[in-house]
Amino acid sequence: MVAKIIDATVDINDKDLNSVVAAIENGKLVVFPTETVYGLGAIANNDIALKNIYLAKGRPSDNPLILHIYSKEDFYRYSKQNDKLLDFLLDHFTPGPITFIVKSQDSISKVVTAGLNTVAIRIPSHKIARKILKNCSYAIAAPSANISGKPSATTNKYAYEDLKYSVEFCVDGNEAEIGVESTILDLTTSPPVILRPGKITAKEINDKLKQAGIKTEVVYNDNVNNSNLDAFDLVPKAPGMKYRHYAPNTKVVKLTCTNLDRQLREIERYILNNNIYPNDKISILCSEKLYSEVLKAFPSYQWEAIISNKYNDVYLAKHLFESFRKLDINNSRVIFVEAVENKNLGIAVMNRLNKACGDK
Ligand code: TXA
Ligand code: MG
Repeated sequence: MVAKIIDATVDINDKDLNSVVAAIENGKLVVFPTETVYGLGAIANNDIALKNIYLAKGRPSDNPLILHIYSKEDFYRYSKQNDKLLDFLLDHFTPGPITFIVKSQDSISKVVTAGLNTVAIRIPSHKIARKILKNCSYAIAAPSANISGKPSATTNKYAYEDLKYSVEFCVDGNEAEIGVESTILDLTTSPPVILRPGKITAKEINDKLKQAGIKTEVVYNDNVNNSNLDAFDLVPKAPGMKYRHYAPNTKVVKLTCTNLDRQLREIERYILNNNIYPNDKISILCSEKLYSEVLKAFPSYQWEAIISNKYNDVYLAKHLFESFRKLDINNSRVIFVEAVENKNLGIAVMNRLNKACGDK
């Protein structure tokens, strides 16, 4: 059976909503939109359905899933942790693109947590996701809706492409607004640690905490995610971080941001060092400004380009995963991606880009 696509680009009608909710309650898998990336959902109290998520994605079973819930009130059904800091963060940052790691209630399935005594919980803000969650009797466990190791799906088209034979419905809720996955904040340690950067940054959280006179500061160090011996002497976290992520088949190479001459030299060096010849195909995701210089400097190659005149952190977050899929074409020798500044949403995007380049 191939998945049925439900058009929820404007809204979801009651009949479709009921069908989607019934399928989930009956242990079927469903692709649904969120503001970050598309999710592959199953009801989180049905171990067979949960195991089917791992099978559909080809995901290792030691990589736990995020519980998606409708509201703050539901949070404590799943979280044993209940403290002032958590309460404050829920009030200020949800619904939205942030996931909290907390001590889990004993009732949570071990298939969700991969045997850990902590659980990841998120309250998404996407209108359609919220309608589905509101009508389900239990949390929906959902990883990103992509085959493991492939870029996360930011449109229904790509989720469908990856998962159409595994799910009952693909709910099309338009292109994901943000385009990179949620910030993951681990609240089981002191200080709390950001395990995966997302739209909500450490700075944004710390500014809010400071304003409210709360002394806690959350920490983020990109190396925490990338090494086994992390800087804070914690046990390895975010198990998913150890797997290769976000990578197209074609080699991805990051170009420095801002300095045009350096960017051109980086391209030249790569072309020369990797036996790329005239008429070879090369992919590039960059600003219009850089692309016009590239065409002048390297006219004899076949360029496949995705370009923008508003190339910044927000643009790149929204288009990085989609561009990986579009530029990962037959015979392309390399995908060059122009970097953006490592601040705001740029922190999350550069984290994904570095992983796609194969940085460990
Ligand atoms: O934006 C998002 O978070 C999307 C949408 C669909 O909500 N979901 C998503 O899920 O990105 P996924 O499964 O692709 O990534 C979840 C990450 C994994 O790296 C996993 O290892 C980590 O969360 N994780 C889940 N439970 C955890 C736990 N108890 N402790 C540490 N890390 C955990
Ligand atoms: Mg994922």
